[in-house]
Amino acid sequence: MKGSMLAMNKKNIVFSAAIALASVALLSACRNNKSTGLEYARNMYDPIAYNQDQPNKNFANGATSQTPPANTTPVGFVRFEYANTPEGLAAASASLVNPLDTSETNLAQGKHYYEVFCGNCHGAKGDGQGPITLLEKGITAPAFYGEGRESSRGGLMSELPAGRIYHTIYYGYNAMGPHNSLLTPDERWKVVMYVQQLQKTK
Ligand code: HEC
Repeated sequence: MKGSMLAMNKKNIVFSAAIALASVALLSACRNNKSTGLEYARNMYDPIAYNQDQPNKNFANGATSQTPPANTTPVGFVRFEYANTPEGLAAASASLVNPLDTSETNLAQGKHYYEVFCGNCHGAKGDGQGPITLLEKGITAPAFYGEGRESSRGGLMSELPAGRIYHTIYYGYNAMGPHNSLLTPDERWKVVMYVQQLQKTK
């Protein structure tokens, strides 16, 4: 009898405690509209490390994000020194050489990136008959890479040098947008390799 009374009391205590906790939680959430309520593990929201946009008293200008010092190149970053001008295009065409070896793996990867990023306009065979070109009215179809077609910038499509194709991928050209943020330098050169294979089509 005594035992069961104790068990009853325990139940009541647990029950009342639960009600009390629930009301506190409820009320603390209603204090005002801007309240974030009870915050658990605050340091998950405010990490010890500085966020890039946070003020930072360790630097003279008080900002966490610092501009890199002049003439430095971030690790892994590949510079492209040719401007998006006719002179830049001519210089890239004359001096850039594909740094990758022509191999089956590189060509297969180039084909893959070409199909993902270029084929929708240039067509899988490089004939300018990609789905976007066919569907969008008013878009000038890009010229066939193979023999016999002139580029609107002069010269034969089949003879565009590697550097000119790379420059075009980097900056885009007319209806074609720039692809430098979509493909890494390595991937761009693989695509160039594959386009140069398409240039041999008749
Ligand atoms: C949105 C459609 C579109 C996409 C995507 C696109 N292109 Fe183009 N590209 C064009 C058009 C249109 C032209 C022709 C522009 C003109 O003559 O006015 C062109 C022209 C070119 C030229 C010829 C440049 C010259 O000097 O004549 C090359 C090379 C080229 N593209 C390569 C690529 C490669 C490689 C990719 C993928 C990384 C790609 N393009 C993705 C639409 C596209």
